[in-house]
Amino acid sequence: MIHWKLKAMIQNVISLLPATASNAFYFWMQRHFGGLRKINPAARLVGGIGLWKLIKQSGYDPKGKVFLEIGTGRVPMLPLAFWLMGGTKIITVDLHPYLKAELTKDCLQYIVDNTDEILNIFGDLIDESRLDDLIHFNSNTDFSINAFFDLCCIEYLAPADATKLPLAAKSIDFYSSYNVFEHIPPTVLQQIFTESNRVIKDDGLFVHRIDYSDHFAHDDKSISAINFLQYTDAEWGKYAGNSYMYMNRMRHDDFLKLFQSAGQSLLVENPVLNQDCLTLLNNQRLPLDMQFKEKSIAVLAISGAWIASKKCS
Ligand SMILES: C[S@@+](CC[C@H](N)C(=O)[O-])C[C@H]1O[C@@H](n2cnc3c(N)ncnc32)[C@H](O)[C@@H]1O
Repeated sequence: MIHWKLKAMIQNVISLLPATASNAFYFWMQRHFGGLRKINPAARLVGGIGLWKLIKQSGYDPKGKVFLEIGTGRVPMLPLAFWLMGGTKIITVDLHPYLKAELTKDCLQYIVDNTDEILNIFGDLIDESRLDDLIHFNSNTDFSINAFFDLCCIEYLAPADATKLPLAAKSIDFYSSYNVFEHIPPTVLQQIFTESNRVIKDDGLFVHRIDYSDHFAHDDKSISAINFLQYTDAEWGKYAGNSYMYMNRMRHDDFLKLFQSAGQSLLVENPVLNQDCLTLLNNQRLPLDMQFKEKSIAVLAISGAWIASKKCS
């Protein structure tokens, strides 16, 4: 386990390098010492299934529709999950071309080697003939990322900015993001929401999963998921004000206001309450920074949320 302040220091130093060298070196570090040493696609596939279920919970039918994902990251597992469940076309965009073919290939191999686990994860949502095609593709084709995209009806656009999408107005049925919005500054989020209203069809839906937790707590189990709420903006900026760990620290209530101010109405709002944070806050064991003191404990203890919204007509 790496102490979070040491991790922050390493990220800060790497972020000082010129962009191309910095990204390459950061990836190398993640691949050799960090979370990318051995990639397991299960968690992200489960994330895609969660968003698919959110669409259904909102009363919409996701089958045979056009999806957009904001913030692809390293591996296109959300788009793959949408395709495996019946999506027709999945466009996935990222501001940075972080996607790695070698990791995607490893994910595919994991799926092929662990078919029972994958079938169990998807349950009756899976299109088994598509899974068969994927397994066949893996064993009979020399892997190329473009051939993989073709098979799975995925269009990857990067660099592409969610504030200015190269997409036609009203072209998207389901607009999605997974663990992305917590990394984007509030002013940029406003622009992203405005642009999202342009590309969504009149009867389309937005589905998001937002992780409100202090991401340093994912690796360093000595701190809580709300550890970062004790710092002023200036203090926090010194730890995480770099391109690898930026977190806006917006809480659930801030996001609900953002949806409303963007002219979107909520259809489903599934906040996840973190019991450890609740105990910590009730026992007043975390000295909160001024900006969080006015918020209720019930809000501060929410560590993530699944949110579905639609454009107000
Ligand atoms: C933490 S990663 C999440 C990646 C992926 N969804 C996952 O869960 O593995 C956030 C991603 O959002 C992307 N991103 C940030 N701002 C963006 C923007 N304005 N437009 C498109 N992508 C953006 C980043 O480049 C990064 O790849």
